[in-house]
Amino acid sequence: MSENIVWHQHQVSHDDRCHQKSQKPCVLWFTGLSGSGKSTVANAVETLLFDNNNHSYLLDGDNVRHGLNNDLTFSDDDRVENIRRIGEVAKLFADSGLIVLSAFISPFRSDRQQVRDLLPSGQFIEVFVDTPLEICEQRDPKGLYKKARAGEIKNFTGLDSPYEYPEAPEIHLETAQEDIKELAQKVVSYLKNNGFID
Ligand code: PPS
Repeated sequence: MSENIVWHQHQVSHDDRCHQKSQKPCVLWFTGLSGSGKSTVANAVETLLFDNNNHSYLLDGDNVRHGLNNDLTFSDDDRVENIRRIGEVAKLFADSGLIVLSAFISPFRSDRQQVRDLLPSGQFIEVFVDTPLEICEQRDPKGLYKKARAGEIKNFTGLDSPYEYPEAPEIHLETAQEDIKELAQKVVSYLKNNGFID
């Protein structure tokens, strides 16, 4: 941490922003294997929120790695740094009053816990997009499993890089059991039942 840095108190408060938006901000943290359906479900949730007049922003793995995190690889250390930065960004966006959706593999439990600890209590909602590796590999929407099996991609999650399953996610979605609409509705119902949105 740098020295001689003083925190500024703003005139418009977090509560003012939330009140104006008529919603309680939170971070919906979608985690799961590559090809599990994180982005697809997160997009479907964001569409439902938009139609409900809620203000949200979706942070997505591939997109953030094109800009903010384009200096990071898929080594363990860089994945840790990837999630640390995204956690900080999610915190700022939630502070602005938004409902943040983040869709990153975020393979390590300790990193997800670190983001949970960074946010005000109750704001972090872990959404486990639970799709078995075999199904992700069958889907292989970007052809990455095929490349990884052929040795063209190293450190591929679920193959030669670990994925630590959430032990007590707030929301558990099984994409092999239910369709996208039902899964998205389940997330929106959670937000309604817990007073984040009307
Ligand atoms: S992480 O683990 O949270 O830092 O990963 P993330 O930032 O979410 O990026 C995942 C997307 O990057 C592509 N990709 C890889 N994934 C896993 N392992 C390796 N080695 C890899 N190389 C590239 C892949 O398209 C991931 O997108 P999704 O949407 O998860 O399939």
